[in-house]
Amino acid sequence: MIRHRPSRVTSVLDLVGNTPLVDVTALAPKSSPRVRILAKLEGLNPGGSVKDRPASWMVRNGLATGALAPGKTILDSTSGNTGIALAMAGAALGFPVELVVPQNVSAERKRIIQAYGAKMIFSDPMEGSDGAILQCRKIVGDNPERYFKPDQYFNPVNPLAHFESTGPEIWRDTAGTVTHFVAGIGTGGTVMGTGRFLKERNPDVQIVAVEPDDAWHGLEGLKHMASSIVPGIFHAEELDRTIAAGTDGAYEIVYQLGDRFGLVTGQSSGASMLAALQIASEIDAGVIVVLFPDFGDRYLSTNLWAGWADWLERNRRGERVVAPKA
Ligand SMILES: Cc1ncc(COP(=O)(O)O)c(C=O)c1O
Repeated sequence: MIRHRPSRVTSVLDLVGNTPLVDVTALAPKSSPRVRILAKLEGLNPGGSVKDRPASWMVRNGLATGALAPGKTILDSTSGNTGIALAMAGAALGFPVELVVPQNVSAERKRIIQAYGAKMIFSDPMEGSDGAILQCRKIVGDNPERYFKPDQYFNPVNPLAHFESTGPEIWRDTAGTVTHFVAGIGTGGTVMGTGRFLKERNPDVQIVAVEPDDAWHGLEGLKHMASSIVPGIFHAEELDRTIAAGTDGAYEIVYQLGDRFGLVTGQSSGASMLAALQIASEIDAGVIVVLFPDFGDRYLSTNLWAGWADWLERNRRGERVVAPKA
């Protein structure tokens, strides 16, 4: 039985989940009046992203199974939202956290991770995230008894976190009226776990995954499956549909969400919203829940904002810069 967000807690981890839905239907003015688009704001988790759910579940599961015990260090190779969430969970539970990250990770990421007291081990920037993965494997391999590695790409507790929290929250907060669930694919944990729960409640709910339309993309957090190592927890056959989103269109939607709703999101939220708009244009009635993984302040130094001033100027003149299409 899930609870509403408590107003007084003993641990920051008790604040994970129970994020609200906000109605963003107005971004689809031509959709049928019987269509609603509701965005689930995962940026309101205490660590600032949807990754608080799998990170806290995997760490707590490690404690429950004994894989994580006093004296051990939590170690993984991610500089993204999962790294930040693991740093938060480790700090809250009193475990040291070490993250293997490419040397060229953005300054804002380094600062957030350091602020949680986590240590960074830098890998060769020329080898990207694969280099960090390999270096992390070597560190654990050399000293396996010292570390607990959550391993979000292969750990079934990642989708389980969404089966036990994200899915039930959406079912509760739409009073069982949800018809479509839309989420981007990173590890696949969100779309798999949430999808399984909603399908169990109503097999007609459509589970829609969103991925970049190209291997070279600017949608941080999302994976282009055809050119990536497929995560062990990802099972494409459980999806009803996959929609490919373009980087320019996703950025355009991020700018619109900020300018028109006061909702400044990350780029992957823009990609998922693009897919939600596509669905809204195709159906006559329905409740589309789209998951927004984080807010835009995480990406201030990225290309997401490079085109904003230009867009704003053209938008003021009434020009549409990019016709959003999914
Ligand atoms: C920034 C960000 N974090 C996390 C996720 C969710 O990824 P996963 O598939 O690993 O649950 C996404 C997917 O949209 C994302 O964009």
